[in-house]
Amino acid sequence: MTEHPGPTEWGEGPGVGPWEGPLPDDPRYDEALLRDGDTRNVVDPYRYWTREAIIADIDRRRHPLHIAIENFGNDANIGAVVRTANAFAVDTVHIVGRRRWNRRGAMVTDRYQRLRHHDTTADLLAFAAAEDLTVVAVDNIPGATRIETTPLPKNCLLIFGQEGPGITPDAKAGAVSVVSIAQFGSTRSINAGVAAGIAMHAWIVQHADLGLAW
Ligand SMILES: C[S@@+](CC[C@H](N)C(=O)[O-])C[C@H]1O[C@@H](n2cnc3c(N)ncnc32)[C@H](O)[C@@H]1O
Repeated sequence: MTEHPGPTEWGEGPGVGPWEGPLPDDPRYDEALLRDGDTRNVVDPYRYWTREAIIADIDRRRHPLHIAIENFGNDANIGAVVRTANAFAVDTVHIVGRRRWNRRGAMVTDRYQRLRHHDTTADLLAFAAAEDLTVVAVDNIPGATRIETTPLPKNCLLIFGQEGPGITPDAKAGAVSVVSIAQFGSTRSINAGVAAGIAMHAWIVQHADLGLAW
């Protein structure tokens, strides 16, 4: 399948033009980008870098935080989850169930984010056990504690459910705990992509070295 450029790589947005002055002698730079300019959605320190060099640099400082989203229906939020996971240098985003998901919301960030597929929640839990990750489910169901006041494990896998059913019984059973995001309005729940962003940021507040942020 042809890999089409995403909307943030179409060149209309912010970016930089062709490199000015003598070309740098550094293998991280991409010849075509130096020649033509770089309008990709990447932070300025990565301007003109090859995709491989950007991934290698993020890989050196990814957080020990994994995110899983159950995809047994057709969840349109996965793209947003991937984009936010990229922003927070999450180790891996795990998609459980269907392989297909709508990449549009990822805004090309999936090219820089480790993604892994698992057929079943049991497969995901086996991975977490093998990697020594503590599994925490995120949903506003009975028995959940407030994420705002709950310490999250450092080596952590956060599991999110889908629109409609929420997390599966398997995910709930496999987690050491369930955390919920405090709500104050009339809706029963918030969008899964938004919930994932809030939960990832809760982990960042507790564990990340903010001196390493851009
Ligand atoms: C739209 S919700 C699913 C259904 C929800 N349990 C309900 O009763 O409507 C989809 C997913 O978003 C996350 N989510 C939504 N609101 C949440 C909240 N207040 N606290 C924690 N997770 C939430 C959970 O992972 C949930 O499985």
